[in-house]
Amino acid sequence: DLSAERRLRCMLEHLVPVEISRVNPDRSVCIFPTSEEYKDIVQVPGDFAKKALLSSRSQYEQLYNEAVTNPDGFWGRVAAGFFWKKLWDTSKPVCNYNFDADKGPIFVEWFKGGFTNVCYNALDRHVLAGHGHELCFLWEGNDPGQSAQLTYSDVLKKVCQVANFLKSKNVQKGDRVCIYMSMIPELPIAMLACARLGAIHSVVFGGFSSESLAGRILDCKAKVLLTCSAGRRGNKLLPLKELADRALEICLRDGNTRVETCLVYDNSFALPREKVPWVEGRDLWWQDNVSQFSVDCPVEWMAAEDPLFMLYTSGSTGKPKGLIHTVGGYMVYAGFTFKHVFDHHPGDIFWCTADCGWITGHTYLTYGPLFNRATCVMFEGVPTFPHAGRWWEIVDKFKVSILYAAPTAIRTLAAQGDEVVRKYSRKSLRLLGSVGEPISPKTWRWYYEVCGDSRCPIIDTWWQTETGACMISPLPGAWPMKPGCATLPFFGVQTLVLDQEGKELHGACEGYLSIKAPWPGIARTVYGDHSRYESTYFKTWKGLYATGDGCRRDADGYIWITGRVDDVLNVSGHRISTGEVEGALVSHPQCTEAAVVGYDHELKGQGIYAFVTLSQQAKPSDALKKELQDIVRKQIGSFASPEVIHWAVSLPRTRSGKIMRRILRKIAARQYTDIGDTSSLSDPSVVEALIKGR
Ligand code: PRX
Repeated sequence: DLSAERRLRCMLEHLVPVEISRVNPDRSVCIFPTSEEYKDIVQVPGDFAKKALLSSRSQYEQLYNEAVTNPDGFWGRVAAGFFWKKLWDTSKPVCNYNFDADKGPIFVEWFKGGFTNVCYNALDRHVLAGHGHELCFLWEGNDPGQSAQLTYSDVLKKVCQVANFLKSKNVQKGDRVCIYMSMIPELPIAMLACARLGAIHSVVFGGFSSESLAGRILDCKAKVLLTCSAGRRGNKLLPLKELADRALEICLRDGNTRVETCLVYDNSFALPREKVPWVEGRDLWWQDNVSQFSVDCPVEWMAAEDPLFMLYTSGSTGKPKGLIHTVGGYMVYAGFTFKHVFDHHPGDIFWCTADCGWITGHTYLTYGPLFNRATCVMFEGVPTFPHAGRWWEIVDKFKVSILYAAPTAIRTLAAQGDEVVRKYSRKSLRLLGSVGEPISPKTWRWYYEVCGDSRCPIIDTWWQTETGACMISPLPGAWPMKPGCATLPFFGVQTLVLDQEGKELHGACEGYLSIKAPWPGIARTVYGDHSRYESTYFKTWKGLYATGDGCRRDADGYIWITGRVDDVLNVSGHRISTGEVEGALVSHPQCTEAAVVGYDHELKGQGIYAFVTLSQQAKPSDALKKELQDIVRKQIGSFASPEVIHWAVSLPRTRSGKIMRRILRKIAARQYTDIGDTSSLSDPSVVEALIKGR
């Protein structure tokens, strides 16, 4: 198949050779640890280990091996901890799959034949067992003084009302519902209401622009949009309804008018009702309408492999992909990883600081904790508003015992100094987590010593939108940590390190991270484009799942994630496609070409650096720079706007016309003495011109 081969070649070209020479003298950013840091071991604090669910590496190894050699027994036992209306077919393997395109279509199935409901397992099960009075969400608004608490019974009732509302709008099993909201409890409530009915939710992060939202609504053909009047993050107002209106206008222009209902939560803290733009006949106020519906709503029993939700994520090429997660496998994997990775015990107060618009907010703010009857803190604001001690104030207020955050926020807080942290007690904390990007040993140390007073283990959890839940992480209590290291794979996760040719490397090594066999939480397809799923994840390395990340494995078998090996950027933990940013830049009439690379950024991990060539009539200016940044803001969202615009006369290309990003990355990092071989460039003088223009 020629086209498949061409696709594969194109993908291999996209792979960035793993670079081991990234050096940043400041060492606070996501760079490789020094050789001493690889050996830096931090033992699990004794008090923690005594009470941990798992307390030794040998215990882990035994369970890990069982999950690999006897998945039916292992995962069958885990899945039996959930409620199933009908058990999966236990006479057949618990997992059926094909990862090898030569043998036919790629597919993964878990718990085939089983019927269950995710919302039932998150809520009803606990309420029916007499735990309805226990706290489910502790919400803290953007401004101090705004807070709310909801028990499991409260949440169940609200979920049923939203589900009944959706039913009244003819939303049925399999229909798509788009959710575009700020971090208020109604957001996870909306997700759970969809899960109750079997409708597929597609949450779009509130930081995305109207155009991004429209693209996602159109791609999944959503029937209903759930939004709120506005949100507040620090001093910033997010006019979500206004942005949603613009998105729906774009959808209308596209001729796709399927969104007939827009339900709007009146978030009057952020914006008074009378200031909210309104479209009669389409828009309905949440509070006025939903409360009229019954607080009972029967669940839709779903087949294990029915879709649960979709979530868009960026890759190196093309438009964002709507990854589909399914009911049974996601439920089992999200719930089980939550329990073990966070060492969850009854009574814990768990705070995941992620936004529900990303996978972390799905798995560890909503589903995973609720399957375990955890109490979750949900925060609408930002870490530094109205003051830099806000997080620790919240930790003390709610007696948070487990805090799960992104390195970018930790770096921001570290920059404010130790005193603001030490002012607060933080005695309730017992475990700290990190997710979304590499955490440098220096930041890890600060988090451990200052925030956790050297008594709370840190779990550096590596995973992806595609993996559904945690894949590599310390199981706190079971083995010593190393600052900046994700350590070992979760039960049954078979990680491999490959060289450039796809050959498996053994022992201590560095290469491409891939995975050999499916785990229950793996995404099953890309919505509406299964061949894209197959080519993105399963064609790079035959028979294996390609993660898109590079890693190092040290002599202890610990895995250190080194970052993306494709053209995907990770800016403040947000995954951004260079291709998408370039697409937005070249849509400006004066921009003829754009090439976007990442550079080490002290706070954001990576910053966005755009090389731009202009049309002959255009002149570089601050005004034009702002226009280019604004066009990215408008088409994608503020978080994707390039920080640096480098006016380039031309871009370094090979004789076959391919842009040499390797060189651009070096120029962005000011590593001029380390540019490497330029002999294959069609015009090597371009490099000198770019360096002069830096
Ligand atoms: O590069 C890895 C990085 O984030 C990517 C996945 O992004 P996303 O799908 O948005 O999911 C983020 C939240 C799970 C990965 O390919 N990444 C995630 N966690 C870590 C990480 N890089 C290093 N260390 C981590 N702990």
